[in-house]
Amino acid sequence: MRISIIGAGYVGLVTGACFAELGHEVHLVEIDREKAGVIDRGIAPFYEPGLEALLKKHIHRTLAVSCEYQEITGSDCTFICVGTPPSPDGSADLRFIRSAAHSIGSALKEVRDPHTVVVKSTVPPGTTGAVVAPAVMEGSGRQDGSITFAMNPEFLREGRAVEDFFHPDRIVIGCSKDIACRKVASLYDGIDAPMVTTGLEAAEMIKYVSNAFLATKISFSNEIGNICKKLGIDVYEVMKGVGLDTRISPHFLNAGAGFGGSCFPKDVSALISLAESMGENPRILKSVMEVNDSQALRMVTMLESCIGDLCGKQVAVLGLAFKDDTDDVRDSRAIPVIQSLVDRGALVRAFDPIANEAMSRIFPGINYYGSAEEALTSADACLVMTEWPEFSQLDLEFDRMKSRVIIEGRRILSCRGKEGICW
Ligand SMILES: NC(=O)c1ccc[n+]([C@@H]2O[C@H](COP(=O)([O-])OP(=O)(O)OC[C@H]3O[C@@H](n4cnc5c(N)ncnc54)[C@H](O)[C@@H]3O)[C@@H](O)[C@H]2O)c1
Repeated sequence: MRISIIGAGYVGLVTGACFAELGHEVHLVEIDREKAGVIDRGIAPFYEPGLEALLKKHIHRTLAVSCEYQEITGSDCTFICVGTPPSPDGSADLRFIRSAAHSIGSALKEVRDPHTVVVKSTVPPGTTGAVVAPAVMEGSGRQDGSITFAMNPEFLREGRAVEDFFHPDRIVIGCSKDIACRKVASLYDGIDAPMVTTGLEAAEMIKYVSNAFLATKISFSNEIGNICKKLGIDVYEVMKGVGLDTRISPHFLNAGAGFGGSCFPKDVSALISLAESMGENPRILKSVMEVNDSQALRMVTMLESCIGDLCGKQVAVLGLAFKDDTDDVRDSRAIPVIQSLVDRGALVRAFDPIANEAMSRIFPGINYYGSAEEALTSADACLVMTEWPEFSQLDLEFDRMKSRVIIEGRRILSCRGKEGICW
């Protein structure tokens, strides 16, 4: 099939490259000219294992990129993969969705062929039917039912995104007309996964609820971890025993510095905001965010109890990305920690294997180093914020510090003399 994808960010580019690998003809429409230019040269504008290889394999063959919406006129369906960032009040900002939907409508004005518009971005229930569809219909001026709509939420994990595309736990397709559902389902031919078909709004809600539940597991584990630490019990032993219960599952029970990234914080906040707009008080969801907001900062409090006043102290921060295997720092737990260190007058010595540059756009005033060893040299203390597997090998490097004051926010180190946030 011929597929257009609006927005070549993490979701759009991975989806496009993987659909090309499945044998479809894909056109990416990306408004950021610089990003489109980079992709056109076969380079992934962000780090994602396996993505660049697919890009190089398909670009200028069955995968193309441009800034032009006119390119979608030759497609059978168009996926919307633009961002849905949080508004100041926590609700989802649908600006990019509205603008993309309007541009799709205008481009489809000139053609009469059937077309399916598929929302892949994470959007509040009702958005595809009440925001996207009217904007597309208004722009296109077509009222003959030849444009159909579907919602196909994305569940990929950054750092495992390509693998997740080809081996998903499930594929969710929401639509109002069967024909749209069958068309979208056929795009995934060759992928062995349960297919869940629902109405548009249920598909939109499935994504929010999945992320809210995973975030809840993390905050729950962190709260239990904080209690276990006081009791002198290893929370990882506890959660291993708990997670083997098939009703619970062993995933997302790792206590630590809390969740970050481009999805969990914003999606839980959007669900809270949605619930409140209808007069509900979502107490569990609010607690999930409250636990998360305070969790990472416990590391700074621990640090102060180890070395006292942080003013003028050199603190190495190892790991800046919100998780391993990505250079994405959006809502990384390293951000509130670094901010808190800076506010206390500490001198931050930061290192991440691939996210130094991304973090330097947020904190241009701190020092970045090319290796953990350099960041640790002469440091008064060290905070570990990301579970990069290579950190598990660190040991003698810590001897370069003034003293081995090491606090882990993720359970990754194997060396002696460390203290964990919850263990
Ligand atoms: N990143 C993830 O891990 C992930 C996982 C699942 C779902 N999602 C959801 O998918 C959506 C996209 O997330 P992302 O991380 O890929 O965002 P992103 O910011 O990385 O990418 C969005 C891209 O859309 C482009 N864009 C914006 N407006 C446009 C327009 N009108 N026309 C063409 N291009 C436009 C931007 O320039 C950007 O490159 C969000 O709703 C997000 O919540 C993200």
